[in-house]
Amino acid sequence: MTGCLLSAVSTLTHLDLTLCTNVNNTGLMSISKLSQLQHLKLLGCKGFDDVGLRRIAALPKLSTLSLPKKNILDAIKFRDDVKVSR
Ligand SMILES: *[C@@H]1O[C@H](CO)[C@@H](O)[C@H](O)[C@H]1NC(C)=O
Repeated sequence: MTGCLLSAVSTLTHLDLTLCTNVNNTGLMSISKLSQLQHLKLLGCKGFDDVGLRRIAALPKLSTLSLPKKNILDAIKFRDDVKVSR
């Protein structure tokens, strides 16, 4: 599914990767370089774990994040300013 491939645009503020099942920790590492990112949807993405999620948690401007149900949320818990939905 090539639609899920990222070309990293550093000014991106919204990213919807819903149902991109092949997003893994490496992919989240690329996403963590999008320093302007505010809204990220990872619903249905199952290829990553808390290692990748911790990268995402480091995004300075992140305010909303949707995660697949199964995911470990500890990595994002310290971000009081991020609204996490499932
Ligand atoms: C993540 O997926 C990419 C592309 O499919 C692959 O090249 C990379 O090795 C994968 N990384 C891990 C940690 O599995």
